Amino acid sequence: MKVGVFDSGVGGLSVVKSLVKHKLFEEIIYYGDTARVPYGIKDKNVIIRYSLEALEFFKNFDIDIMIAACNTVSAHAIEELRANAPFSVVGVIEPGVVALTNKIEKKDANILILGTKATVNSRKYELLLKQKEYSNINSIATGLFVPIVEEGIFNGEVLDTTMEHYFKDINPHNVDSVILGCTHFPLIENEIQNYFKNAKTIHSGEAIVEYLRANFNCDKSFEETKVTYFASENPDGLKEVAKNWLQDIKEENK
Ligand code: DGL
Repeated sequence: MKVGVFDSGVGGLSVVKSLVKHKLFEEIIYYGDTARVPYGIKDKNVIIRYSLEALEFFKNFDIDIMIAACNTVSAHAIEELRANAPFSVVGVIEPGVVALTNKIEKKDANILILGTKATVNSRKYELLLKQKEYSNINSIATGLFVPIVEEGIFNGEVLDTTMEHYFKDINPHNVDSVILGCTHFPLIENEIQNYFKNAKTIHSGEAIVEYLRANFNCDKSFEETKVTYFASENPDGLKEVAKNWLQDIKEENK
């Protein structure tokens, strides 16, 4: 099984990390549009255009599935990708919602969605959750977390102040689940979990692993996953980030 993973930049490596950890694929082709990141502040038409360009890139490889690891792409361009792709395309929003329904039974649970402006404005998570009859949903666009994570800051004062800024109107004890609706947020999952102590967090990477196992017969466990990295700008920079973010997995899988 060969999979293509697409993200606006380096963030999708958080999804690659889960795929590698669970040994789901023999080969991963990763493409990050690092020249044009961030997508989360762009409008729908631009997000669709960039996503379709990425799709053309993936058509050069013999992939079985394309994963839109980017929540912003999943929110705005998944239908267009599916309509134009010769292979299956999976986004992260539906798997995230399925993962939440598996973890949170109470339909009146307090659910907090965090994502980029574009993801939050699309209301895609909200819509799917409402279809599943969840009624207490709050969404916050927390875009500043993206550059903070890219800067390699995963805890400390800057992150604490930013969390305080975004979450000042929320009682953290009342939140039952937090959807980490952006590729970058799993990297600060510990801090978010610390802030919302009672909440179950939903991580796109882990959610998509469950989803692929259930819906795409991804039940094999491959000895090793070969990952090839491509980027629209500075691929060496992307490889460097991959080395750092995926380091602990390599150790664990040894
Ligand atoms: N990959 C994006 C997402 O998951 C975050 C970075 C961006 O804004 O492009 O929404």
